[in-house]
Amino acid sequence: MSTEPYKNVHLLNQSNQLVGLYTIIRDKNTARPDFIFYSDRIIRLLVEEGLNHLPVEPLTVRTHTDKPFDGVSFIGKICGVSIVRAGESMEEGLRDCCRSVRIGKILIQRDEETAKPKLFFEKLPEDIAQRYVFLLDPMLATGGSAIMATDVLIKRGVKPERIYFLNLICSKEGIDKYHAAFPDVKIVTGAIDQGLDENRYLIPGLGDFGDRYYCL
Ligand code: URA
Repeated sequence: MSTEPYKNVHLLNQSNQLVGLYTIIRDKNTARPDFIFYSDRIIRLLVEEGLNHLPVEPLTVRTHTDKPFDGVSFIGKICGVSIVRAGESMEEGLRDCCRSVRIGKILIQRDEETAKPKLFFEKLPEDIAQRYVFLLDPMLATGGSAIMATDVLIKRGVKPERIYFLNLICSKEGIDKYHAAFPDVKIVTGAIDQGLDENRYLIPGLGDFGDRYYCL
């Protein structure tokens, strides 16, 4: 898996551990408790990787040996925005790393008449334009909802370079479309899949993430 043509796609290191986690969640015989547990582990890695890219400034502290340690401190504030429903599965992983982080929500669903994605609901932190935003959605398939959600953020004043789109699996065509629309948004992902089937499921993918995490 290569991120060659893309300026801002950060693919998690494809270690045996990571591929092992994906093997479990992609397996159709994995039951829901394990699907949740191992997806949560990947989500945690995605959040940590996103945090790796936030800007820092130098900070020197004194240790218990009364010696200086020249470290760094994060600059700026962050928030999460989940694309309902599957994106909500990633909120806890963000909270585990960023205590009491503010989290907004965007609900996009396919319009029955036009078959195009339609914005139904948005609730975002008031000061979102001043924050780094972790946009949460586990699967990037056609890119339609992610592009609409990112447009909502940009209309609210968030700079594209301050948006980190975290997902577990992307399709190549989803990345192409999303990256063409927002070349400055950072995509943090753990897998790039071959494509989509006739029902717009990722191949090989893992099926419907929201159903497997919340229902099945
Ligand atoms: N959403 C999913 O849950 N799975 C896919 O394969 C594509 C979109």
